[in-house]
Amino acid sequence: MAESTSRIIRLAVVTSSYDTVDAVRRVAKKEGWRVIAKVSRHYELATLAQQRADVAIIDLANLDALTLIEEAAKALPEMPIVVLASPERFGELQRAILVGARGFVRFPVVASEFVTMINNILTEQEQEEAPASQHTLCVAVAGLKGGVGKSTIATNLAIAFHKRSHADVILVEAHNNLSDLALMLNLQPRHTLSELANSRTIDTRVVKAMVQKHESGIYVLSNTLKAEEMAELDQNTWNQVLLHVNEMAPIVVIDTAPTPDLVLSEVLFQSDKSLIISTPSVPSLRRAIDLYDTISEDESIQVEPYMVINQLGMPGGIAEKHLKNRLGKEIFCMLPYDPALATLAMNSGVPFVLSQPRSRLSRGIFEMADRLLPQNEHEKVTSSSRKRTFSLPWRS
Ligand SMILES: Nc1ncnc2c1ncn2[C@@H]1O[C@H](COP(=O)(O)OP(=O)(O)OP(=O)(O)O)[C@@H](O)[C@H]1O
Ligand SMILES: [Mg+2]
Repeated sequence: MAESTSRIIRLAVVTSSYDTVDAVRRVAKKEGWRVIAKVSRHYELATLAQQRADVAIIDLANLDALTLIEEAAKALPEMPIVVLASPERFGELQRAILVGARGFVRFPVVASEFVTMINNILTEQEQEEAPASQHTLCVAVAGLKGGVGKSTIATNLAIAFHKRSHADVILVEAHNNLSDLALMLNLQPRHTLSELANSRTIDTRVVKAMVQKHESGIYVLSNTLKAEEMAELDQNTWNQVLLHVNEMAPIVVIDTAPTPDLVLSEVLFQSDKSLIISTPSVPSLRRAIDLYDTISEDESIQVEPYMVINQLGMPGGIAEKHLKNRLGKEIFCMLPYDPALATLAMNSGVPFVLSQPRSRLSRGIFEMADRLLPQNEHEKVTSSSRKRTFSLPWRS
């Protein structure tokens, strides 16, 4: 089936050698597969569980490889395991297969053999599995400066995705503050994320009960509007919530706060793409560059960063022609400064892509949605959740 090659595949590599990760990454890159790797001599089952990879590749040279294979095959039966073995380890292969590995590839990696093995495993998996997760795309809207337009863009983008794809879209407010999304969408959430603060187990049912449908057709999972109801959700809760929403709808848009905290790191680990929003002003650009570089340089973060300039043409802002130089990065999209439209949308609780779809601002959002959506409607990517290893340079 063509599907197995058109969706973005995530491979978790378990090894204690950076060279091994690099070798796998080189081959995987050509196939458009992503490699999630946390190089370590000891690898916890829990780490693997949180990665939710399509295939786990376990290096037999690792200390506890056989134990891990056995545990993972039992605990995570939906995640096929492929063993990576250098010739001196071939003697252990039979044991690895007996305890649960689905196949093996040789190390040093032979590209054609590796690709064939992974493709076979994915095809087998698709045939065996109950319907896979519906997940297609998870976009985080981030930026480490307040008031740059993250929530505005997240809201309008979620609606634009729904209009363009007719697929279910969930807009999630991922921070521990009062809700902005409920105000922007004129919603009175009956249940909010803050209710999850004391839940021990969070299952899809619980999350579904909290999601509210907006008249535009999108679903919204928001924070509370009431200060007295505010609660701090811990990282594990966010991890669970984000895993569930990614299973519930093919498209997820996550609005974030401008704080480099663990909630943001969890969001970045679980997203496929991240828009980094900045206005054309020096402080905002500097923070955007920091976040972009952090994301790009951190091997364990697989999210693809996209630089977005919002409010282009704002009074006193840096002119378009100087922006690219200032940033030193590709700019994915520039959205115009339109305070009248943005304020009207805020005050009326009606996002501008609904009220003024032909305005330049709305057209910019629709164009972004078109470029972010996978080309093939059936193209799928799977979500990933990682152990928190994220450290932002300005935090330490
Ligand atoms: N393109 C735009 N042109 C003019 N004003 C805009 C534009 N985009 C957003 N705004 C305005 O900027 C203000 C901040 O927007 P928004 O709340 O979306 O930012 P934010 O980054 O989510 O802020 P926070 O960091 O507080 O969450 C709002 O008043 C909004 O109407
Ligand atoms: Mg906001």
